Amino acid sequence: MQKKSSGLERESFSSRFGVIAAAAGSAVGLGNIWRFPYLLGENGGAAFLLLYLFIALLIGIPIMMSEMLIGRLSRKNVIGAFHFLTPGRPWFLVGVMGVGAAFVIMAFYSVVGAWTIEYFYASMTRSLEGLSVEQLNDYYLHFTTDFYRPVLWTLLFMALNVIIVMGGVKGGIEKYSKFLMPLLFVIIVFLMFRSLSLDGAWAGVEFLFKPDFSKMTAKTVMVALGQVFFSMSIGMGVMATYGSYISKKERLGNTAISVTSVDTLVAVLSSLVIFPAVFAFGLKPDAGPGLVFVTLPNIFAKMGGGFLFASLFFLLLSIAALTSTFSLLEVVVAYFTEELQMKRRVATLVAAVVMTVMSVFCVKYAAFFSVLEFLSSNILLPVGGMFIVLFVVWVLQRHVVKNELEAGGNTMKFFPVFWWLIKFIAPLAIALVFLNGLGWLG
Ligand code: PHE
Repeated sequence: MQKKSSGLERESFSSRFGVIAAAAGSAVGLGNIWRFPYLLGENGGAAFLLLYLFIALLIGIPIMMSEMLIGRLSRKNVIGAFHFLTPGRPWFLVGVMGVGAAFVIMAFYSVVGAWTIEYFYASMTRSLEGLSVEQLNDYYLHFTTDFYRPVLWTLLFMALNVIIVMGGVKGGIEKYSKFLMPLLFVIIVFLMFRSLSLDGAWAGVEFLFKPDFSKMTAKTVMVALGQVFFSMSIGMGVMATYGSYISKKERLGNTAISVTSVDTLVAVLSSLVIFPAVFAFGLKPDAGPGLVFVTLPNIFAKMGGGFLFASLFFLLLSIAALTSTFSLLEVVVAYFTEELQMKRRVATLVAAVVMTVMSVFCVKYAAFFSVLEFLSSNILLPVGGMFIVLFVVWVLQRHVVKNELEAGGNTMKFFPVFWWLIKFIAPLAIALVFLNGLGWLG
């Protein structure tokens, strides 16, 4: 039994640019600017990039389309969508897992969001200037194992999320995405030119574009698959929730392609900010997670006007993190308002308070942080993605899916390809990532 009619007074995005800005805002995040470059550094440069592109195209895009179409077909939050499309069946549990994943990802991600604010602040106040690598390393270790300061910045970061999400779909999410995404783009392009103009920058470009296939192993493939899920924000309901706000006029295939292109472009651009500078200063490209918080400040510290570039870079990171976290908060708020009949303000506050408590635990207990991070990219996202494609292929009828994808008017030439990809390739690939994540593939 369906409890409510398909919410008539429901908000939606007001323009194509708004849709793409919001969805790309969710996708572009720490995954692109922080994680992608260091994975690239560790996994053979351009070889990894090629692999990533291949997987994003064949698996990422079809899953993003599947998710968006579940949202748009039902015009509901991620749990309500499954209740609506398959009343009385246990499929809504996929939505429950998605809402759970939103809490989990938000909890650890906001902590890193807090680090970006700390580094922005430290760059602005010029407190990183003149520090040696060892001192920067100490700074990083000291700050990330501290308690009060990270908590303080986490609170500020959450507050920003709350303000934006309380503003609603158009007045909050869309409005801020339309402003922040272009700003992010301008900053990243500016930083890229600065980095490319350093003496010796070319070695970094070569590293990026000359593939080293010797680093390519089965594990690299798994890493790339996991990164596609995380970076594209697929497998937990952000794209379903945002999809439910997309008008029938839009073609979901085109939307997913645009969002994926922006997401990948930003990952490549941030690599073009980071590697030319890393090579110009004779540093190593495979510094891992410390690349952005230790190696880069070290470079900025040696550059003329470095504090300015450092401030811009960490502002960029904070913006990228924020547009991703408010998409996570929206997943929960949409559920609370539509299914539990809470007011938007109340829903936002309740969700944010719970998330903040979880984040504080992540600050306090590094092990909790690691567990949540592991859980999200290795279990929740792939399992969610698997159920989403299974649902679209085996539960929704083929013509229903086709109609929804073609709701924009034009026929979709590639529909058979899409169908084949979600029917065979995506589930197979996801099964592999999942088994690997559990360590079952050795
Ligand atoms: N896509 C975001 C990033 O790359 C992370 C994210 C994952 C956000 C899942 C929402 C949902 O940083």
